[in-house]
Amino acid sequence: MLLSVAVLFGKAEDVNHSATSFDIVEPINKALYTGERATFVIKVLSKEIDRLVIVQDEGTTEEIKVLPTKRTYCKTINLHVGDNSIQVQSYHGTTLIESRATELYFLSELFEGLDDEPEGFKRYYFHTDNEENGCKACHNMTSNVPTDGEPFEDVTKTTCYECHHGMLNTKNTHAPAANWLCLDCHDGKIGEYNMQDEGKSKYLVRDPVERNCDDCHDVLQEWHSKKYSHGPVNDGHCIRCHNPHGSENEFFLRKSIWDLCTTCHAEKATGKHIVSSFVFARNKGVHPTKGPKDPARPEQSFACSSCHNPHGSDGIFLLRMKGTMPFNVCNRCHKK
Ligand code: HEC
Ligand code: HEC
Ligand code: HEC
Ligand code: HEC
Ligand code: HEC
Ligand code: HEC
Ligand code: HEC
Ligand code: HEC
Repeated sequence: MLLSVAVLFGKAEDVNHSATSFDIVEPINKALYTGERATFVIKVLSKEIDRLVIVQDEGTTEEIKVLPTKRTYCKTINLHVGDNSIQVQSYHGTTLIESRATELYFLSELFEGLDDEPEGFKRYYFHTDNEENGCKACHNMTSNVPTDGEPFEDVTKTTCYECHHGMLNTKNTHAPAANWLCLDCHDGKIGEYNMQDEGKSKYLVRDPVERNCDDCHDVLQEWHSKKYSHGPVNDGHCIRCHNPHGSENEFFLRKSIWDLCTTCHAEKATGKHIVSSFVFARNKGVHPTKGPKDPARPEQSFACSSCHNPHGSDGIFLLRMKGTMPFNVCNRCHKK
């Protein structure tokens, strides 16, 4: 009865607040993520609760046992691309006490048609003094990562590992990340490099990130001098295709090569390619674009990048060839 009066007079929030059994400290509702992991930090407020459950919209659930002596619970979950609707539920036995919704958005430039930010969501950074203050009681928030490039003897002792260890559970991991030399890239160098985000996080990377990559790979001078360069490489955003930490795919790519290329070049997914003009084959002028083995590079599978260089080339259409005529590329695998 009291509740409905309060609702009528617009005081529903006060009533809900007093009935709240937990607080969600992190994340902020309607936050925009550029990575697939989001951390929930939940503070239990009611002694009644013995279980928390995080329910994701695709059905994944994460159970957390609540102990009488412990109030704060931290759990990192994996987001899927796009809008994620997540419920945090508190239970006493099998009785649901409370359920609260959080909406998060994982924006991947690769999957979501480049830079379109969804309406109503905001990019937010965690590593500011303000946000980190709430964690200091239990976590070491100093960046005890050496910047001299020397590997750690025990990476599990680094401060970053404590919170980000789930990040590298992938088949292939990129050496500097696998060795937890996180600050090799997250050097927070702003100024000249990253004016736009200055002061937003301690662990920014340079913008464009290709400058970080070039520190070790030293490829830009060569690639930028090629006659033809690839659209998505030109703006220096290497991580559109590569995950800088690691991935299930070769070369730490965000998708397998064929899937990656056809994400943006969808018309090539039909299998109709280098049609008629060159290929007078059994299969009516259609050249295969994938297969188990690249004849020119037997250690790799056959895919788009067997014929095209994904970064740049002196050959037209980014073809891996000498000379100027596209059919010169055929010699790579079909020697007469
Ligand atoms: C080779 C360079 C490189 C290394 C090494 C590296 N990162 Fe990153 N990291 C990046 C880039 C680039 C981004 C994307 C930044 C952006 O979106 O603005 C990123 C993003 C992140 C994010 C945000 C979520 C995401 O995936 O986009 C987290 C968290 C992160 N890095 C943690 C770490 C930790 C912890 C380490 C050490 C184990 C590490 N990184 C090592 C380059 C690197
Ligand atoms: C009361 C102590 C306490 C506070 C405060 C606390 N944490 Fe934790 N956190 C822990 C403990 C303990 C773990 C180890 C995992 C476990 O046993 O729950 C942990 C684990 C984590 C993890 C790893 C989770 C996973 O699933 O791998 C992250 C990320 C994390 N904390 C982030 C935070 C952030 C961010 C804050 C501040 C907003 C914070 N924590 C505040 C105690 C705390
Ligand atoms: C107390 C836990 C904790 C520790 C310790 C920690 N991080 Fe984070 N970090 C987070 C959380 C939480 C986020 C936000 C993403 C998420 O929800 O998981 C984050 C985000 C980031 C991001 C994305 C940019 C930002 O500011 O949001 C980078 C990069 C990053 N961490 C790097 C590091 C590095 C490098 C270290 C070690 C020097 C480190 N982190 C230590 C919890 C932690
Ligand atoms: C601190 C040095 C360092 C930085 C910075 C760095 N890398 Fe690397 N990278 C390495 C090392 C060492 C290897 C070889 C070992 C391995 O495969 O992890 C490597 C391997 C790779 C490979 C696989 C190469 C192969 O032939 O299999 C790719 C792809 C790659 N890096 C991309 C990048 C991108 C993209 C960036 C920038 C976001 C970057 N790297 C930044 C050190 C670095
Ligand atoms: C359009 C997607 C795409 C972008 C953007 C991209 N790469 Fe790659 N990269 C690939 C693919 C695909 C391969 C595997 C090529 C193959 O089959 O040999 C690769 C391979 C690599 C390799 C290992 C072998 C080699 O070719 O040297 C390195 C190092 C590398 N990329 C670094 C970078 C850096 C640095 C940038 C940014 C300047 C970048 N990549 C941008 C798709 C991309
Ligand atoms: C993130 C989106 C994206 C990805 C992923 C991507 N491309 Fe592209 N590609 C583009 C854009 C944008 C252009 C420039 C469009 C234009 O100028 O017509 C381009 C141009 C090209 C061209 C030159 C076309 C011409 O007419 O000269 C080739 C060839 C090509 N891409 C092949 C590939 C291959 C092979 C892969 C996979 C390794 C790949 N692309 C992955 C976006 C992408
Ligand atoms: C066997 C070698 C070979 C493979 C594999 C291959 N291509 Fe090509 N590609 C060519 C040649 C040769 C041309 C230029 C002649 C033409 O367009 O018919 C070309 C042209 C292109 C062009 C520019 C002209 C156009 O048709 O739009 C794009 C974009 C392209 N390829 C993308 C891809 C993608 C994406 C894949 C993988 C699904 C792929 N290619 C696989 C050889 C190849
Ligand atoms: C990177 C290696 C590579 C390049 C470059 C390449 N091919 Fe192929 N080609 C293949 C593979 C792999 C097959 C499939 C072989 C099989 O099925 O036995 C194939 C098959 C063929 C076939 C036979 C198709 C059929 O159905 O029997 C013809 C004809 C052909 N290629 C012509 C060309 C021409 C013309 C070019 C240049 C535009 C070219 N190829 C470039 C790898 C390549």
